[in-house]
Amino acid sequence: MRSLINILDLSTDELDELIAVAMDIINNPAKYSEACKGKKLATLFFEPSTRTRLSFEAAMYELGGNVLSVAGADTSSAAKGESVADTAKVISCYADIIAMRHSKEGAPLVAAMNATVPVINAGDGGHNHPTQTLADLLTIYREKGRLGNMTVGLCGDLKFGRTVHSLIAALSRYEGISFVLISPEELKLPEYVENDIIVKNGIDYTVTSDLTEAMRKLDILYMTRVQRERFFNEEDYLRLKDSYILTPEKLENAKESLSILHPLPRVNEISVAIDNDPRACYFKQVLNGKFMRMALILKLLGIKL
Ligand code: NCD
Repeated sequence: MRSLINILDLSTDELDELIAVAMDIINNPAKYSEACKGKKLATLFFEPSTRTRLSFEAAMYELGGNVLSVAGADTSSAAKGESVADTAKVISCYADIIAMRHSKEGAPLVAAMNATVPVINAGDGGHNHPTQTLADLLTIYREKGRLGNMTVGLCGDLKFGRTVHSLIAALSRYEGISFVLISPEELKLPEYVENDIIVKNGIDYTVTSDLTEAMRKLDILYMTRVQRERFFNEEDYLRLKDSYILTPEKLENAKESLSILHPLPRVNEISVAIDNDPRACYFKQVLNGKFMRMALILKLLGIKL
C-alpha cells in the first residue's frame, strides 16, 4: 500500500507515468468515467481549502467513485481531542483512500503510518504540498513540453509557502534547472530546502529580492501568496503582504515564452490586468490539478486501464 506524503515519494519515472495518464484522461475522459466505481475517497481537511478539497472530490466523481468529506477540525472528532493516528485508523474502515490537509507539519505522515489505506498529503502546515506540485508539473509540461532545462523564478513567501518547497524538490531532479529565489529577507526559503535540496543536488541558483531585475531570465515565474495564517504577528504580515505585485509594467522585460504560475488563492500578488495575458497559466493550473489527482488516485488504488 502506497501513500503520497512527500513529492520525492514518487520517482521521476512515476511522475512521467502520472503525466501520461493525466494526458490520456484529458483526451479520453469517457474511458475513465467508471474506473473507481464502488470506491470511496475520504477528504479530511483540518485547514481551510476550496480548490484542493473540491479538486480531489471532483477528481473522484469523474472517476465514477464516491466521496466522504469532513470539512474543518471544528466539526469533526478532532475537536473532541482525537489523535491523528486514531482518526486514520477509523477512516480506514470507511474509505479506500484518504486525502488529508492539516495545519501540523507531519500530520499526514502520522496518518499514513496508522491507516490501512493510502493517504495523500493535501498540505501539511508550512511544509509540503505534493499534489499542488503535480498540478504545477503538468502545467509546466503542457506549456513547455519538458520539465528540465529552464530557469524557474519562485517569488513571494518562500518561507511558509509549502507549494514552493515541494516544487523545488520535484524540479531538482531534472537536468538543466536553475532557480531564482525572489523574496524579502524575512520570507527566504528555509535552510533545510536550500541546503538539503538545492545545494545538495548541485543546482544553479540565485537569491534576490528584486523581481523586476530577475524577470528577463525567467522561463517560469511561480508567484505565491504571503501565508498570513502562519505568521506570529499581524504587523509583520501587514508589512510584508504586498512585497510583490505582478503588474503589466513588471512584465516589460519578461520573455514572450514566460509562463506565470500561482497555486491560488491569489490575494494581491498578481494584478487582474494580467489574467488575459497569454503567459498567465494559473487558471489552467487549477484544471491540471484535477487531472493529476485523478491519475494519482488511480495509481494509489492500483487501478490500471
Ligand atoms: C496553496 C496551499 O494551500 O498551500 N493553495 C492550494 O492548495 N492551491 C497555496 C496557498 O494557500 O497560498
